[in-house]
Amino acid sequence: MYSPREKKKVTVQTIIKQKAKGEKITVLTAYDYFTARLLDQAGIDCILVGDSASNVIHGHGSTLPITMDTMVAHTAAVARGTHRALVVADMPFLSFQPSAETAILNAGRFLKEGGATAVKIEGGMEMAPTVKRVIECGIPVMGHIGLTPQSIHRFGGPKVQGRRKKSRDYLMESALALEEAGCFSMVLELVEAGIAAEITGALGTAATIGIGAGVECDGQVLVINDMLGLREEGFKPKFLREYANLSPVILDAVRNYIKDVRDKKFPSSDESY
Ligand code: KIV
Repeated sequence: MYSPREKKKVTVQTIIKQKAKGEKITVLTAYDYFTARLLDQAGIDCILVGDSASNVIHGHGSTLPITMDTMVAHTAAVARGTHRALVVADMPFLSFQPSAETAILNAGRFLKEGGATAVKIEGGMEMAPTVKRVIECGIPVMGHIGLTPQSIHRFGGPKVQGRRKKSRDYLMESALALEEAGCFSMVLELVEAGIAAEITGALGTAATIGIGAGVECDGQVLVINDMLGLREEGFKPKFLREYANLSPVILDAVRNYIKDVRDKKFPSSDESY
């Protein structure tokens, strides 16, 4: 367990070693300074500044609208609150797909302006050449296969990947191609647990980080808002475990505040000058 005295920074090499030793890798998303501080204090290994910020922070229906500038700003806030954990910035839609040059310049912004240590790039084997070029520039890359939300319109919805042979073969070939390109890790999202375990076993150094991909992945990731119960009612995928339900706590606090102000019970004389 992490103790505050043990401040050694997590690097991509740490993640690779954790896989080699069979130590589970813990990942959560964060988008702001204070949440990042709390996750870091708690001892999380890696903080992902996910483009899920598009949904859970900005209220969009998908990850497609969020821009580079917005993601860089979230990353910089998270990096300021993080001392130990590895900060990985998610490359948003169309920040890397057009060309390797576009990918390198945008990935570089996350390191230069955002203070991240690595970036995450969605896509299977077709993205491997781009991923390789980014890594050759000294920028570590976390891959992301399975259900890749930036291609949600192609998938036609959040469908579990790897149920059929063609899909399993594509996932395995993609994972191997991304490792060959130099990824230090990769997210497996909404992937049938059996093939996720096979991929985890087949990869030599690249760690698999599952979300809806079973317990055999090298690590797990959840969206912080979802695991804290700060989410839309009705959104409860099977893989999501809610570790706290903060929505009623916040509702209660705000209702009490409104009542106190209206009843002239806040501020008290002790809270006045
Ligand atoms: O954007 C995000 O939060 C992600 C995780 C769900 C892996 O990509």
